[in-house]
Amino acid sequence: MKTIELHYEGKVAVVTGAASGMGLLASRELAAAGAKVVLCDIDEEALARAYALIAADSAVSGAGGAAAPCRCDVRSWEDAQGAAALALDRFGRIDLLFCFAGGNEARCRDSRVPFFEQPREVLDWGIDVNLRGPVYLARACMPAMVRQGGGVICLLGSVTGFEGDGSGAMYGASKSGLFNFAKSLAKAGAPHGVRAFCVSPGPVLTRPGMANLRTLAGRAADPAEIVDFALYLASDRGAFVDGTNHVLDGGRLSLPR
Ligand SMILES: NC(=O)c1ccc[n+]([C@@H]2O[C@H](COP(=O)([O-])OP(=O)(O)OC[C@H]3O[C@@H](n4cnc5c(N)ncnc54)[C@H](O)[C@@H]3O)[C@@H](O)[C@H]2O)c1
Repeated sequence: MKTIELHYEGKVAVVTGAASGMGLLASRELAAAGAKVVLCDIDEEALARAYALIAADSAVSGAGGAAAPCRCDVRSWEDAQGAAALALDRFGRIDLLFCFAGGNEARCRDSRVPFFEQPREVLDWGIDVNLRGPVYLARACMPAMVRQGGGVICLLGSVTGFEGDGSGAMYGASKSGLFNFAKSLAKAGAPHGVRAFCVSPGPVLTRPGMANLRTLAGRAADPAEIVDFALYLASDRGAFVDGTNHVLDGGRLSLPR
């Protein structure tokens, strides 16, 4: 049987949310496949641990992969520009951008009250991390891709972008905004060989609570099921994928209401 091998040797990737969950797994897999990875995260301690892990992986794999840590708050224009500048300084190009940084404001800001009772800071966090962040990172990284004549941008949506959420309203609105933003990026990038798409998971086992969410499959996803699919789409094997949103939800959106 023929197996699919993804080639990332010589590619340079900027990954946000790289210090944990799917962003960390994607960063490890990219480096193991030979990519140079700029690890962007707001959590400096977790970032240092992620960097040490990937440096150790790379020493063992011998695939030529490498990493550089970058303390980056995706809500900041300057930090986004700084992440792109670091990729260019250290590795000379930017081929890939993965926007994993994100989360539901109800969980991340511990605000499990309905939208109409949430303070402004909670609402701002939801929009700024989930929507403004990918916008700033794409704006920062895309000029290098255009100059090089190619690149790939992978956004992380969510089934909540279809379902909505009474206490994670900004999360749902931002994620559905990303479905459309991927199309705009694809249209702006196509004349320059730059592709963009969105991957929208249902519940993923990056945190325990997700195991309780219903799916037709009767389980939540292993993080590798989402990451491997995103890495396939972002590789040369996914070259025909552009402007689309890809739902991996174990059938959650098909459940009877
Ligand atoms: N886990 C799920 O069930 C699930 C489902 C659907 C979509 N998603 C999406 O997938 C992506 C990854 O999810 P995960 O569960 O692996 O995440 P996670 O919570 O494990 O990791 C998120 C990372 O983002 C970082 N981060 C938070 N705010 C930041 C900021 N302002 N700037 C930079 N980094 C910041 C955190 O420090 C953390 O390292 C998210 O966008 C999430 O919305 C997750």
